[in-house]
Parts: sequence; C-alpha cells; structure tokens
Amino acid sequence: MSYQDRYVEHRARKARELGADVKVLGYGKLSRRSRRRFEGVSIDRWERTQLLWAIANAPSSCNRGGVWVQWVDSAEQRCRWGEMLVGGVGWAQHAAAIILLWADPECYQHHNDVMGARLADQDGAFAACMAHVRACEIGVASCYICPNLIEGASSTLLNRGWRLTGALAVGYPMYPELEPPPKREAEEVLL
Ligand SMILES: Cc1cc2nc3c(=O)[nH]c(=O)nc-3n(C[C@H](O)[C@H](O)[C@H](O)COP(=O)(O)O)c2cc1C
Repeated sequence: MSYQDRYVEHRARKARELGADVKVLGYGKLSRRSRRRFEGVSIDRWERTQLLWAIANAPSSCNRGGVWVQWVDSAEQRCRWGEMLVGGVGWAQHAAAIILLWADPECYQHHNDVMGARLADQDGAFAACMAHVRACEIGVASCYICPNLIEGASSTLLNRGWRLTGALAVGYPMYPELEPPPKREAEEVLL
C-alpha cells in the first residue's frame, strides 16, 4: 500500500467514523487504533491513573521529565479546547477528557530554540504514545490531536511561555465491539 493509499484510507475512515449514521470502528486490544467517538461519560479514576502512569513513565530526553499534563474534563473546558485545537474541531469536545501535554520551558532552556522545541515535541510525542497504547490495553478509546492552535488561542500556560506538545482525547469507546481494519503486517514495515 502506498503512502497516498494509506492517506486516502485514513481520510475515508475518519469521515465514516465522524459521520452521524455510521457505526465507528472498534478498538482491538492487541492492535492500537485511534478512536474519535466516545460514550458521553467520564472515565474511572483507575483508568485516569493508568494513563497518567504511562505518561509519567514515558522515555524523555535525559529523563528530565519536562512534560506535564493538564487534564481537561469539564464540559466548558472541553468545548473551549475542542475549538482551539485545529485537529480536534467537531469531535474532541465529546471525549471524556482531553489530555494536554505541556513542556515546561525551564526544562529545555539550556538548548537553543530549535533544539529545545524539538526535544520538547519529542518528549511530548513519547508521552502521548505511551498513554495511547495504555489506553488501548485497558479499553479506553483515544486519539492524538496535533498541537496546532487556532489563531488567537490563549491559555494561562501558553501566556507563560509553555509549549503545547500535543493532546490526547480519551474516553470509553462508542461501539467497542467493532474491529478496526488491519494495519500493515509486521514484516511490511521493513524497507
Ligand atoms: C503526529 C500526529 C498528529 C495527529 N493529529 C491528529 C489530529 O490533529 N486530529 C485527528 O483527528 N487525528 C490526528 N492524529 C491521528 C491520526 O489521524 C491517526 O493516528 C492515523 O489516521 C492512523 O490511524 P490509527 O491511529 O487508527 O492507526 C494524529 C496522529 C499523529 C501521529
């Protein structure tokens, strides 16, 4: 399958998943997939702790632990962030929570701007990935949201110079029984 084919499949799947009358694809415990449709309830404390644990245990540049979580779960704040995060518009506010992954500038200040930003983003991506995989393992639906914000977006941490490195929408999956289409086979990833 070419990159373009996979991209076309992604666009079609996303459209199907977000379509009002179409049942979404389910998660598989052994094969992680993104899920953007959620039951409209909060997740249990145990599951929240599991996701935070995964983030706390993520690999990070020199183990500095410069990535911090803002757990957004009030309806008002989910709507606010769902509108500010470009890639989450129209669906992210329906998640049980939006996990915002912030990099503390103090942690990355010994690097130049480009290197600091790169390390911060990499740390954030590892943290998101750990939580993503853990979410799948425990039956929580999740989807990464890239940290591009609409123009004029503001928040306390942004104003303090913190870097938003990514976000993860999480919640119990709608239609958990449905299996997602398969990804590449293991051997297929080899060049
Ligand atoms: C760096 C990155 C950015 C992404 N940004 C978004 C986003 O802003 N909005 C969204 O709906 N999905 C986003 N995703 C999820 C991808 O669309 C999804 O991972 C991809 O289609 C593959 O599907 P899968 O995760 O089920 O394997 C992002 C994923 C990654 C890795």
